[in-house]
Amino acid sequence: MIFSALTTLSLAALLAPSSAQSNLTVPSGYAPTYSACPTNVTWLRGAQNLSDAEHAWVQGRKVVVADALGSFLGALNWTGFNVTEYVRLIKGDLDNVPVVSLALSGGGDVAAFTGIGIVQAFDSRYPPALSQRTGGLLQSLTYFAGLSGGSWPVVSYSVSSFPTSSALITAWDPEIDPYYRGDNASAINDYEEVIFEQIGEKAEAGFPVSLADYLGRALSSETIPGPGYGVNVTWSGVASLPAFKNFSIPFPIVENVVVDPNSPSYAGVLIPQANSTIIEATPFEWGAWQGDRIGFTPTKYLGTILAGGSPVNTSTCVTGFDNAGFILASASNAWNLWYLNDISNGTEGNFAKRSLSISSDKAEEHALSKRASFAFPISTIEGLAGVFNQSFNLTLGEILTAPYFNPWLGVGGDNATFLQLVDGSEAGQTIPLAGIMQPARKPDLIIAYDASQETAYGWQNGTNLIDSYTWAVQHGIPFPKIPTAVTILNRNYSTRPTFFGCAHKDVPVVLYLSNAPYSTYTNFSFIEDALPPQQVQEVLLNSFNIVSQGNGTLNSDFPECLGCAVIQRSIERLGWNTTAQCQACFSKYCWDEVDDTKLNPGLNPFNPEMSLPPTTFAVWNQTHNYTSPKLLPS
Ligand SMILES: *[C@@H]1O[C@H](CO)[C@@H](O)[C@H](O)[C@H]1NC(C)=O
Ligand SMILES: *[C@@H]1O[C@H](CO)[C@@H](O)[C@H](O)[C@H]1NC(C)=O
Ligand SMILES: *[C@@H]1O[C@H](CO)[C@@H](O)[C@H](O)[C@H]1NC(C)=O
Ligand SMILES: *[C@@H]1O[C@H](CO)[C@@H](O)[C@H](O)[C@H]1NC(C)=O
Ligand SMILES: *[C@@H]1O[C@H](CO)[C@@H](O)[C@H](O)[C@H]1NC(C)=O
Ligand SMILES: *[C@@H]1O[C@H](CO)[C@@H](O)[C@H](O)[C@H]1NC(C)=O
Ligand SMILES: *[C@@H]1O[C@H](CO)[C@@H](O)[C@H](O)[C@H]1NC(C)=O
Ligand SMILES: *[C@@H]1O[C@H](CO)[C@@H](O)[C@H](O)[C@H]1NC(C)=O
Ligand SMILES: *[C@@H]1O[C@H](CO)[C@@H](O)[C@H](O)[C@H]1NC(C)=O
Ligand SMILES: *[C@@H]1O[C@H](CO)[C@@H](O)[C@H](O)[C@H]1NC(C)=O
Ligand SMILES: *[C@@H]1O[C@H](CO)[C@@H](O)[C@H](O)[C@H]1NC(C)=O
Ligand SMILES: *[C@@H]1O[C@H](CO)[C@@H](O)[C@H](O)[C@H]1NC(C)=O
Repeated sequence: MIFSALTTLSLAALLAPSSAQSNLTVPSGYAPTYSACPTNVTWLRGAQNLSDAEHAWVQGRKVVVADALGSFLGALNWTGFNVTEYVRLIKGDLDNVPVVSLALSGGGDVAAFTGIGIVQAFDSRYPPALSQRTGGLLQSLTYFAGLSGGSWPVVSYSVSSFPTSSALITAWDPEIDPYYRGDNASAINDYEEVIFEQIGEKAEAGFPVSLADYLGRALSSETIPGPGYGVNVTWSGVASLPAFKNFSIPFPIVENVVVDPNSPSYAGVLIPQANSTIIEATPFEWGAWQGDRIGFTPTKYLGTILAGGSPVNTSTCVTGFDNAGFILASASNAWNLWYLNDISNGTEGNFAKRSLSISSDKAEEHALSKRASFAFPISTIEGLAGVFNQSFNLTLGEILTAPYFNPWLGVGGDNATFLQLVDGSEAGQTIPLAGIMQPARKPDLIIAYDASQETAYGWQNGTNLIDSYTWAVQHGIPFPKIPTAVTILNRNYSTRPTFFGCAHKDVPVVLYLSNAPYSTYTNFSFIEDALPPQQVQEVLLNSFNIVSQGNGTLNSDFPECLGCAVIQRSIERLGWNTTAQCQACFSKYCWDEVDDTKLNPGLNPFNPEMSLPPTTFAVWNQTHNYTSPKLLPS
């Protein structure tokens, strides 16, 4: 594995007292900066409603969405529904404009790349999506949420003002390893050196650093535009982009989990629980709707020390802590679980019940030869820990989680100076639904894309969606009932699009889309150092086939039915009847609310076969032998 080379080669070089790096220019800007505090900012607010800023933005977006829906719905082969009249009415009362959200799950590089393909399949700028009539839904979204691997596209599209997916892929250059860009064994690795110098700049400015900074700097080299690996790009800066200000891109949300110091631990490492607080970060605000700590602080001023809800020193407010790459890395900061997975031989740190301890027998027969079961080997983590120890005098335990200044310090007896943030999936929900299901956001349709790889062969059986449903019920949040994993497997709900909650006006409709092998096998490794262009294209096409149902060949009516789900809650508010066509759609694609009790034979383990055309993994693998990443010079 290339990444392990990092510890033996470049890290050793970094640690060497050599001054050979002295000619290196390190692009500055990663350190947050201090300035006088603004006087017109609400430092900490409750979580009863949307912020005024988000509310105003959503109203602006609805006008754009109404027009986008006119095109999207107008292209559908619908009978008995007057789209022109519908769009006229919703524009007249924006409360009737459907709020549609897309959530991209975690699941490392699989989630990131298949998620980009899902976005492309809904994009009206992608000609095949337009001709399949699924294109245009992207333009009709209000919210776009991500965590872990799913946060990479969400942040990357947003800070880049939503390029097309092919332009995003070009910018990422997935063929290049973001973690290590070695040239040869003896050379000092400039790339690594720049990253560590940038982290050092932040530490010298007095801010705590951790492996999340390393992950963020490395991933930024591909995902964040701008000089110095996007060193000056902030998450709050999205709010100043023209594309955001004129409402032409959706509102992005990324999710993190806070590690509760009372959580159970293994080898001294705390393990988040299902009730751990979920923090969301938007360009406007950072905070939680439910949990131990509730409320929101402005994202732009993260890093400012607050006490009792106000700055401790009004001349030292912080900006730049919300570096976009750091926000993205905080949402995918699973070093604690990667480490536990390594030291426990895969028995601990298994995310949302994900079974990472896969036996390697019959690996060729199944898709496992493409998968590394451990994200980062222990040698890599210990090597990085060595650099952090030597450079910043931090222990391994201190760098596995991302420290954020606690905005609730001094509120209700809260005495924690820092909150320890980790990957948003670590409370058991790998699909970022917590933010977009909030009643304050008035969700009508939630599209839950799932590449969580929770089952042995890297596919899904709905466990993470079930976890979100359970969480919603615990918090009294309206959410459709989700069936058992047995039902989801028996009915093929994780290999074909499925709606939940259609008949229940009091909950949003949920469209569950699961990563599955249509035209290629997409259950590759959680962390891929590099992906060849041909594989990336096949992965994007597979996602297009999930959404378009094989370019219309598997189910030609799915685009029409998707449209039905988009408008359903909205037409209920308008007092319109569901058309016969849409009723037929819901009969076909909506769960009938009957649970199966017995798993059909052949579904354990769950190892679905590619369908377009039907091909076993063994046969496919003969012509798709993607293995080693390619090393390119920095
Ligand atoms: C640094 O720059 C000097 C002068 O340009 C050059 O002689 C030297 O070889 C450079 N050192 C490295 C390590 O590139
Ligand atoms: C980032 O912004 C700071 C302050 O404006 C500037 O000094 C620095 O050069 C910028 N960094 C890059 C890489 O452009
Ligand atoms: C606060 O004041 C600044 C400077 O006048 C202005 O740019 C900013 O929009 C204001 N912020 C809010 C939340 O009103
Ligand atoms: C439109 O729908 C009708 C009735 O369902 C069907 O006969 C026709 O083939 C469809 N046309 C297209 C272009 O899909
Ligand atoms: C659809 O509604 C528009 C008004 O919004 C009306 O002008 C048009 O005639 C209607 N079309 C049909 C087929 O009823
Ligand atoms: C969270 O759940 C754990 C058990 O998993 C329990 O011990 C703890 O008290 C709970 N914490 C809160 C804040 O409810
Ligand atoms: C780790 O687990 C694998 C299979 O799960 C097993 O074959 C191996 O012996 C275990 N190694 C140790 C050191 O426990
Ligand atoms: C490193 O940190 C430890 C404990 O935090 C402290 O006791 C020690 O003095 C520090 N060492 C240096 C060289 O700063
Ligand atoms: C912080 O608060 C917790 C819980 O109330 C308490 O157990 C702990 O002693 C406090 N720590 C300090 C340093 O005051
Ligand atoms: C679904 O996946 C979870 C996570 O791997 C596993 O614990 C559970 O047994 C699976 N359920 C079924 C019915 O396969
Ligand atoms: C989808 O099908 C059309 C013909 O209906 C074909 O022209 C097009 O190439 C196909 N696109 C993809 C991406 O398979
Ligand atoms: C809706 O359907 C009901 C029952 O079929 C019918 O009585 C009513 O007229 C319909 N409403 C509209 C607006 O078409």
